[in-house]
Amino acid sequence: MRTPFIAANWKMFKTVHDAVVFAKEFRAVVKEATGVEIVLAPPFTALHGVAEAVRNSPVAVAGQDMHWEREGAFTGEISAGMLKEAGAEFVIIGHSERRRLFNETDATVNRKAVAALGAELTPIVCIGETLEERERSETLAVLDRQIKAGLDGLTGDQVASLVIAYEPVWAIGTGRNATPQQAGEAHAHIRSRLRQWFGAAAADQCHVIYGGSVKPDNIHELIVLPDVDGALVGGASLDVRAFAEIVARSRQSAV
Ligand code: 13P
Repeated sequence: MRTPFIAANWKMFKTVHDAVVFAKEFRAVVKEATGVEIVLAPPFTALHGVAEAVRNSPVAVAGQDMHWEREGAFTGEISAGMLKEAGAEFVIIGHSERRRLFNETDATVNRKAVAALGAELTPIVCIGETLEERERSETLAVLDRQIKAGLDGLTGDQVASLVIAYEPVWAIGTGRNATPQQAGEAHAHIRSRLRQWFGAAAADQCHVIYGGSVKPDNIHELIVLPDVDGALVGGASLDVRAFAEIVARSRQSAV
């Protein structure tokens, strides 16, 4: 049985001040939370402050992206080691906004995932089809390509340790979440490919979470699906009450 995994992707929202205020308030609300993994992914500038604010609590911290090199002349980039030093235990890799707006490819996702694991950061690897791809019935083929290329060369043990976020691009920020049937089908497919390509243990242990317009009022119908292990939440994670409610409902649904 996989522990529910609920992560907040704040994207380019919140100053250091706002992020730390959120983290302190949120920490107080979820202080007794057991049986759930909770992660906050603030902008880089707020990472250290948020990590300090949630130290010794059930809440962990993630970067939203990273470069695959350890250091070098890469203006504007941040390495896995730097994220780790700032207090991150996780890093989001290959979010669809980065793929679409910043030319991220399956090949760069793979290099980043390898580098993150090498630095003992847990990757949250994002995959998912666009609306055009879904309408052309290419969803499962797109997921296959993203999994195969993005996780290329990883061992079964490494895949067992990581998090895959299925985020259909058409459901992100649109208020239109995937139906339980759509999410269930995609998640079951991802799980079966993990089993086929990385082995039974990897498939059983890897967290496959859903992202795209997750809210307090739709988390239950998604988290009860057998292959949905949690959520990557954008908009609704910016509000302490809404995000805490999503965490609470995930825990209730899991028992
Ligand atoms: P929304 O929850 O705002 O749709 O964003 C989802 C997302 O992109 C999380 O990474």
